[in-house]
Amino acid sequence: MQSRAHQLHREGRRIAFVPTMGFLHTGHLSLMRIARERGDILVISIFVNPTQFAPGEDFEAYPRDMPRDLGLAESVGTDIVFTPDNEMMYAEGFQTYVSPENLSRGMCGKSRPIFFRGVATVVTKLFNIVRPDIAVFGEKDYQQLVIIRRMVRDLDFGIEIVGGPTVRENDGLAMSSRNAYLRPDQRAAALSLYQALQLSRTLVKAGERQADKIIAAAKRHIASFDGTAIDYVVIVDPETLDDMTVVDRPARMALAVKVGATRLIDNMALGEDLADRPA
Ligand code: PAJ
Repeated sequence: MQSRAHQLHREGRRIAFVPTMGFLHTGHLSLMRIARERGDILVISIFVNPTQFAPGEDFEAYPRDMPRDLGLAESVGTDIVFTPDNEMMYAEGFQTYVSPENLSRGMCGKSRPIFFRGVATVVTKLFNIVRPDIAVFGEKDYQQLVIIRRMVRDLDFGIEIVGGPTVRENDGLAMSSRNAYLRPDQRAAALSLYQALQLSRTLVKAGERQADKIIAAAKRHIASFDGTAIDYVVIVDPETLDDMTVVDRPARMALAVKVGATRLIDNMALGEDLADRPA
């Protein structure tokens, strides 16, 4: 892959890259379409990265379907699908990691303390192998997107990072490979995440500015569904991910909820129309 990338660069081609863990859905495909528009060669990777799963998480159970994924990748005009295996990515003696600091402490980092180290490390490796000019990540995983942008700046990768909007099912549930775990009754409860975000947007539009009040209303809504257990609901600065107490400028609301054993996340912009406070 690396020598192919060098060859493509020598030919003057722009490589656009979408890293994934496979079990592709319309959300992944939307990122691939964005990438295809932005580059000459579309590369995707499919690799369920062991270093971002803690013991007891769903690494073994994570859904996999390579033949189907290859067909879907081809259907959106992917030129190269990079599918390394564990031994290739983490050879014996592997010991060098990329650790994001403050940005990885809150939100998903609290309940998944090694997650962003695993993500930053594998994305660094994938960038070094695929050598993209641009890479596309979904807003669905908002904290991940912010951390990757920061990492690329901090470590001078010289890769343009593009965020793609969250693709949802017709009723609003954010598409996720993990939705495959949901039983029909859990599928109904899973919708509470999107509804809580929508409810919060409505509150802000109606003039509510107190973050704690909005968060409390969102939590009440989610808790009213059987089988939900809230991990976090936050309203944060869209770039620093610091908690906001007053929504008087654009903010991001993010949440994580367990529905049965399945951990789901979602997020949405709040108050985009509120002008940034003058300095
Ligand atoms: P994965 O969960 O497979 O997601 C791959 C990419 O698809 C990520 O950038 C994610 O944000 C995006 N994505 C997922 N669901 C989406 C949706 N409904 N709409 C739009 N985009 C969506 O995220 C990972 O894999 C891994 O952490 C990875 C970056 C590949 C590192 O292992």
